[in-house]
Amino acid sequence: YKRITVKSLVDMKARGEKISMLTAYDYTMAKIVDGAGIDVILVGDSASNVMAGHETTLPITLDQMIYHASSVVRAIDRSLVVVDLPFGSYQSDPKEALRSAIRIMKESGGHAVKMEGGKEVKDSIKRILNAGIPVMGHLGLTPQSIYKFGTYTVRAKEEQEAQRLKEDALMLERAGCFGIVLEKIPAALAKEVAESVSIPVIGIGAGAGVDGQVLVLHDMLGMTHEFNPRFLRRYMNLYEDMTNAIGQYVDDVKSKDFPNDEEQY
Ligand code: KIV
Ligand code: NA
Repeated sequence: YKRITVKSLVDMKARGEKISMLTAYDYTMAKIVDGAGIDVILVGDSASNVMAGHETTLPITLDQMIYHASSVVRAIDRSLVVVDLPFGSYQSDPKEALRSAIRIMKESGGHAVKMEGGKEVKDSIKRILNAGIPVMGHLGLTPQSIYKFGTYTVRAKEEQEAQRLKEDALMLERAGCFGIVLEKIPAALAKEVAESVSIPVIGIGAGAGVDGQVLVLHDMLGMTHEFNPRFLRRYMNLYEDMTNAIGQYVDDVKSKDFPNDEEQY
């Protein structure tokens, strides 16, 4: 195998090969995801929800993201590792954004950073790119701005917001980003954006007309069971399987079935 680079992703788009991306936040899971042949692992700030149990992505810190990312990086042989810049680590000014991105690269060994937003973060993106750090954009539903939106519903359904999103996507390409995540927007709009830029557009809840797909690992494995958006395809029902396995273990301990004669010294 060959390691995936930001260049390989752009080449994949050029030859029409779809890009596969999943989140991971720890060593053991990342080892499985990388070994199974995923192209890109996202150390998402969704770790705030999935790993820490927060209601939003806002509370997770840069130090915590670095901890998750360094665990993931130790597991991978082939995938490209993209790390989310968390809320509060890049919004105040470009210098702070660059300092945060440098910390991620130095302390975790990740290969690229992702940040939410368009025009408002343009100067920060340019500064980070100038330091040689690849940047992925993220438009549409941007969970770090949840208190501005108020809900997690589909974004850019109205013409004005759609127009703004198209301009932001072109800006991200011009600024030098190697890719863009589009979250929860109409499929037709996502397709139009993907066709308007030469960098890969990775969708989540953005339809089939984009260049790749990303899902939260614990959602697609069915470990979470109270989150049921239309875009989520579950490949397993681990919530049920794990509950049954753990219940069986409890029964075996209580009934003295475990350990048996062979399971001891
Ligand atoms: O944090 C995350 O998991 C993400 C994906 C949903 C794109 O940003
Ligand atoms: Na994220």
